[in-house]
Amino acid sequence: MSKMEVKTSLLDNMIGVGDMVLLEPLAEESFLENLKKRFDHNEIYTYIGSVVISMNPYRSLPIYSPEKVEEYRNRNFYELSPHIFALADEAYRSLRDQDKDQCILITGESGAGKTEASKLVMSYVAAVCGKGAEVNQVKEQLLQSNPVLEAFGNAKTMRNDNSSRFGKYMDIEFDFKGDPLGGVISNYLLEKSRVVKQPRGERNFHIFYQLLSGAPDDMLKKLNLERDFSKYNYLSLDSATVNGVDDAANFRTVRNAMQIVGFMDDETQSVLEVVSAVLKLGNIEFKPESRVNGLDESRVKDKNELKEICELIGIEQAVLERAFSFRTVEAKQEKVSTTLNVAQAYYARDALAKNLYSRLFSWLVNRINESIKAQTKTRKKVMGVLDIYGFEIFENGDNSFEQFIINYCNEKLQQIFIELTLREEQEEYIREGIEWTHIDYFNNAIICDLIENNTNGILAMLDEECLRPGTVSDETFLEKLNQICAGHEHFESRMSKNSKFLNDHTLPHNCFRIQHYAGKVLYRVEGFVDKNNDLLYRDLSQAMWKASHSLVKSLFPDGNPTKINLKRPPTAGFQFKASVATLMKNLLTKNPNYIRCIKPNDKKATHIFTDSLVCHQVRYLGLMENVRVRRAGYAFRQTYEPCLERYKMLCKQTWPHWRGPAREGVEVLLKDLQIPREEYSYGRSKIFIRNPRTLFHLEDQRKQRLQDLATLIQKIYRGWKCRTRFLLMKRSQVTVAAWYRRYAQQKKYQRIKSSAIVVQSYIRGWKSRKILRELKYQKRCTEAVTTIAAYWHGTQVRRDYRKFFRANAGKKIYEFTIQRIMQKYFLELKNKMPSMSPIDKTWPARPYLFLEATHTELRRIFHLWRCKKYRDQFTEQKKAIYDEKLEASEMFKDKKALYPSSVGQPFQGDYLEISKNPKYQKLSTLVEEKIILADIVNKINRANGKGAPRIFLLTKNSFLLADQKSGQIKSSVPLSDLTSASMSAQTDGFFAVRVKEGTPAAAKGDFLLSSDRLIEIVTKLYRTCLSSTKEKINIEISDEFLVQFKQDKVCVKFVQGSPKNGSVAACKRKNNRLLEVAVPSP
Ligand SMILES: Nc1ncnc2c1ncn2[C@@H]1O[C@H](COP(=O)(O)OP(=O)(O)OP(=O)(O)O)[C@@H](O)[C@H]1O
Ligand SMILES: [Mg+2]
Repeated sequence: MSKMEVKTSLLDNMIGVGDMVLLEPLAEESFLENLKKRFDHNEIYTYIGSVVISMNPYRSLPIYSPEKVEEYRNRNFYELSPHIFALADEAYRSLRDQDKDQCILITGESGAGKTEASKLVMSYVAAVCGKGAEVNQVKEQLLQSNPVLEAFGNAKTMRNDNSSRFGKYMDIEFDFKGDPLGGVISNYLLEKSRVVKQPRGERNFHIFYQLLSGAPDDMLKKLNLERDFSKYNYLSLDSATVNGVDDAANFRTVRNAMQIVGFMDDETQSVLEVVSAVLKLGNIEFKPESRVNGLDESRVKDKNELKEICELIGIEQAVLERAFSFRTVEAKQEKVSTTLNVAQAYYARDALAKNLYSRLFSWLVNRINESIKAQTKTRKKVMGVLDIYGFEIFENGDNSFEQFIINYCNEKLQQIFIELTLREEQEEYIREGIEWTHIDYFNNAIICDLIENNTNGILAMLDEECLRPGTVSDETFLEKLNQICAGHEHFESRMSKNSKFLNDHTLPHNCFRIQHYAGKVLYRVEGFVDKNNDLLYRDLSQAMWKASHSLVKSLFPDGNPTKINLKRPPTAGFQFKASVATLMKNLLTKNPNYIRCIKPNDKKATHIFTDSLVCHQVRYLGLMENVRVRRAGYAFRQTYEPCLERYKMLCKQTWPHWRGPAREGVEVLLKDLQIPREEYSYGRSKIFIRNPRTLFHLEDQRKQRLQDLATLIQKIYRGWKCRTRFLLMKRSQVTVAAWYRRYAQQKKYQRIKSSAIVVQSYIRGWKSRKILRELKYQKRCTEAVTTIAAYWHGTQVRRDYRKFFRANAGKKIYEFTIQRIMQKYFLELKNKMPSMSPIDKTWPARPYLFLEATHTELRRIFHLWRCKKYRDQFTEQKKAIYDEKLEASEMFKDKKALYPSSVGQPFQGDYLEISKNPKYQKLSTLVEEKIILADIVNKINRANGKGAPRIFLLTKNSFLLADQKSGQIKSSVPLSDLTSASMSAQTDGFFAVRVKEGTPAAAKGDFLLSSDRLIEIVTKLYRTCLSSTKEKINIEISDEFLVQFKQDKVCVKFVQGSPKNGSVAACKRKNNRLLEVAVPSP
């Protein structure tokens, strides 16, 4: 919106006229005056239609700021005051939006500002195209390639402190979005003669001065250089420093730029090494040395310099030295070596320096191309920027081969310009069927032909002369020119057949003159053949190829002896012609945009406008012709459809829709607008508008109309918006009101309803309570009556029955009650009976205190009964066993510690099964009676207390001890001879069987035995004795008892043994009165 409001046009605040097409009257004077006026007001840009004329202001103007970039961005070409940015914007947008490849052709003479213009275009495009890390890097590399190429390819000349000494064409490649992808640079013909010699007041290429003044000391030392310019023959001294140029700072800029472009540190170093080698080559000097054959041979004067160069680029000194002294010519397998004289040696030296430097420059361009080339293979849109040396004329006639070549190139560019603008323009008019008065313009094709014609063009003849056998010189070349070109209307020479020049003394003998489109130029033929040959002796290129310095080696692939090419290399002229042809072909495929640079003065000064100089440039650039064509023709053309589309709102009939052919619509429109008939013409498909003013007029009207339309649209839109808003609000209001009313009524109704309910409930409550009160009263009355009646009846009955009642009622009630209680007690007891196990100690709790005795008694009876039940289950046999166990229990329980362990053991009796065991067959026959007990026991030796195993047999009448192995009976004692058995109260199994005194068995004394089954043995012994003798033997349990051993009474004493004795009791005879048994402690 804001952009639309800024109503700008080329016509606003115009100084002079911004477009020369609008110039009135059109003449050279008014043209120059207009340029001057604008120049004086710092308006350095002026249009001729779409061509931009740029005047060099020689000072920096504040018209390239980012704000300016924004101002010109996406604007119509004629919308703002003329600017190089408008052209750049137009070119960039038609590249991006209409997919047309563009080229920007910048021409003008040296110092006119071509290089600056090309940089401005590039920086504008960089500023407006896409952003992003990757894109920015590409942009940065493209922009930074400029300082590198300028350092190596530019030099200070008389006309320009930063003159490009090479032609440059750069293709910037974009993707479909218009983001830059990369670029390709082509370079044309570096002016290499500058390396070895510079005209007065001019300098060598910048890099030499930058290196010497900017390199740090250690770097210079490494390169074997000295800071002092005067030490180097190749650096002319008279203008070594340039005002306002800081070589040292520029050196840093260049190195930085090289880094950004992608040069590795060692690459930069190699490049600087080659540069210093070139510089040092100039210091090699030669002296003559006479030889036997009388000829002079050159010798290097100071070998030190040579040595340093050889070290720098890694060549054997002898190889280079030889290459400076000899020349080998190879022809048909023959090698002829000739010596060089001093002049030839200098020639060879300079040729080497020039070649080394120009090849280095080409290498740099290729290296930069490698860095900036686009990474993708997709189709690219291309914008080419051509910054080529301008037309060059040295007034003193010092024009040489270089100027000839440069001017040829400009001639070709002019031809493109003519072809594309003038011719195309006319042809279009014819195509469109527009009346056209033919304008004569000078077509320079004839000059181009003079130079480049393949058979008799000047370049072809020069090549022919160079290749011709026999003596060839510049003079013979001129002679040839005189023969062949004499008749050409643009060629003049003193010897030319055209007699009118015979007396022309301005034309020296060794010169020829060409009438270029831009004026006449006098060329001196001296050096033409040499420069065209561009000869470098093969010995030198072979020497260079032998260098160990990889860059130097790679610069001289032709020095490789295995790839010797006897064919001559193409001549400089031929090469240049070919590359110009390629360039032209390339440019012809693109949409051209022209910037024509003009130099206002020769002094590089601001504010000075030298009329003659500018006039000359205006003429040779053909600017007047350019304007005339634009004026005679039509400034603006457009196909009918877009034109109608654009302006149809200016006329009622065509707005808003025109039904019918577009052409008719445009006709109606223009008629309606009352545009003078001579201002426009109807072509077949396009409308042609003669004057830009008419177009501006249309544009202005359109803008005005657009505003009206915008107001109309706004008006309708606002009305519609307000109406719909109002209707919406109204609808909303109704809805809201309805809802509110409903809500309010609902509330009110609910309030009334709840009040009614409350009132209702109060009334109902009141009524109910009244009824309830009456009912309660009635009930109480009934109850009262009943109670009174009952009491009354009771009193009467009691009064009647009292006599039957009182005597036994109490007792009966008591008995009845007791009976009930007992009944209940027994029934409960029955349900809670404990288990039948005799060891079950539980018994239900007693319910009443008075039943205590009964309860205890019942418990006892129950227990006895269940014990009896238990006993009744036993067989006779089992009963006997239990009898025995009972006996044991009575004897030992709580008396002997061994007893508890015996409770669980069944008393088996015959453990040895004598009758069945064949081992004891003899023993079994000896003992006829039934064996009650048979077991192995330990018989304690009476003398020492040691134990020995014996079979212990108990029969009904006696007990026997027999040998365990043989079964032989050792002792047999009738049971009637036994008196008692003694044992300790401990866990041990020692026991003494005492024999009655005086019996046969008593002779040996009592038996002291030991067995684990002591309890069983003693119990069985006791019972058997009792049953057979009807006498009880005495059972003595004591920890100390006396036994009778033969005559002695010995005391057996049981002591608690120490733990070391373990768990086994041990018996020991202490003396003849004491036998001690150590019993394990419990
Ligand atoms: N638009 C500009 N604004 C300010 N100064 C400019 C402008 N154009 C050119 N100059 C000045 O003019 C000098 C010469 O310009 P430039 O190097 O572009 O000329 P050129 O046409 O490329 O010459 P040559 O053909 O010798 O290379 C620049 O160094 C700069 O000082
Ligand atoms: Mg330049």
